[in-house]
Amino acid sequence: MEIKFIKEISNYQENILILTNDQLDLPNSAENIEKIAGINLEQTLKNRDFKGKKEESLFIPTSNEKIKNIVLISAGKIEELTIPNAMGIGKKIYNSLSCKKISSATLYVAPSIIDNSLFSDMLMGTLIASYKFEKYKTKKDEDEEKVTLENLDVIHASPHTKQLDFEKYIHIYDGIKLAKDLVNEPPNILTPAEFANRCKELEAYGIEVQVLDKVEMKALGMGSLLGVAQGSHNEPKLGIMHWNGGEKDVRPLAFVGKGVTFDTGGLSLKPANSMIGMKYDMGGAAVVTGLLKTLALRKAKVNVVGVIGLVENMPGGHAQRPEDVVKSMSGQTIEVLNTDAEGRLVLADALWYTQSMYNPEFMINLATLTGAITVTFADQYAGLFSNNDDISKKLYDAGIKTGEKVWRLPLDKEYDKMMDSKIADMQNIGTKSGAGSITAAQFLQRFVNNFPWAHLDIAGVTNIDKATNISTAGATAFGIRLLNQFIEDHYE
Ligand code: BES
Ligand code: MN
Ligand code: ZN
Repeated sequence: MEIKFIKEISNYQENILILTNDQLDLPNSAENIEKIAGINLEQTLKNRDFKGKKEESLFIPTSNEKIKNIVLISAGKIEELTIPNAMGIGKKIYNSLSCKKISSATLYVAPSIIDNSLFSDMLMGTLIASYKFEKYKTKKDEDEEKVTLENLDVIHASPHTKQLDFEKYIHIYDGIKLAKDLVNEPPNILTPAEFANRCKELEAYGIEVQVLDKVEMKALGMGSLLGVAQGSHNEPKLGIMHWNGGEKDVRPLAFVGKGVTFDTGGLSLKPANSMIGMKYDMGGAAVVTGLLKTLALRKAKVNVVGVIGLVENMPGGHAQRPEDVVKSMSGQTIEVLNTDAEGRLVLADALWYTQSMYNPEFMINLATLTGAITVTFADQYAGLFSNNDDISKKLYDAGIKTGEKVWRLPLDKEYDKMMDSKIADMQNIGTKSGAGSITAAQFLQRFVNNFPWAHLDIAGVTNIDKATNISTAGATAFGIRLLNQFIEDHYE
């Protein structure tokens, strides 16, 4: 959908949306609207017992030719709003209009709200609520003709300035949309090669994209990543994206993503039910890709490199066996005891490659790494693991601000020991059961080489059943708003 800012207009649109608050403040044009529509707003609000509580809405059909519908929505007490609940108000705008089959409306905002920075977050909530993935539906639902909000014109005294100001939010949404589209694509379409092609399309925005194929990865010694890929006919790729918006010679910030385009578990095959949802196992890579797009669109003044390990984890005659030993790019050997603990094997080489090639300021990786993290946090928090208190604090704060919350869990020598193997340098699952998310993080840390690093286990938050204020149901693109905020607040 499109949100545009425009100057006050004299010919009113059919559908008018008014954003008010707990004081029932009305926009400056209220009088004109009342005159044309032939109603008295104050009286109507009283009659219909509209109190102006947060997200309260009122639908007023008129018998007028010009203005047919007036919808009121309240932002409640604006002083008490956070970004996530401001987004909830925007979502309410989208849902209330769509539910009345209104596809186009003009928004008039009370003066007490329009210049509050949270107003932009409200509109961001509207944009986010509008996300749909329907490219594989060949028929529209017949009985109920689906109309949703497509155009929202917002009346503003200086529309041009406000539009420029709002562009940033549109850029964030464009990154989110890309990430959600990638995640929603079925795994027969979004193979590693196809994912790499979609990365290549980002060159149009000034991102430098490089794609390594199997032969090149073999030459680099990426035996850990390649072992995961060897059961699939779809060849692995390593996607590398650079956005250089900062000063020359400033070390880049590095984001590394797990991009398992489908995770069957390999020979340690998942049961049928656990395999549903495993197309989402490239969620980390999708977020890294979407984040790069957002940063490029908004011309962020930072140097960033995004590295994504793209593989499909399949069983088959050529698949990696449990008990195989592989050699990673770092030189360390790994005994693969469970081929379903594949994400860490992919990230091991992607992390090593990233720090040895780009000497980054820090590395943050995102991965749908463990089912265990959903046991801990369900779909509420991402697990944060880090060797750096400063980065952890900044990520925590950005999480509170954006509503994409993270919570730090410990790393510890005792957990690290659980990854020692009898015959190789390490094994890919813990020697003891329990602490599955922590032992996975300990495994990753062995490939971090003491660089400042944070690992976000997003297995629980990448795909949700029910829409929230900050995401539609399904793919969430969790991490884009979080990391964009983190970068904006500390690195630009
Ligand atoms: N991709 C899964 C983790 C996952 C599970 C993501 C559920 C989203 C929802 C990962 O590759 C995996 O299979 N992990 C195993 C590790 C185990 C074998 C040590 C797990 O969590 O069961
Ligand atoms: Mn797995
Ligand atoms: Zn996986």
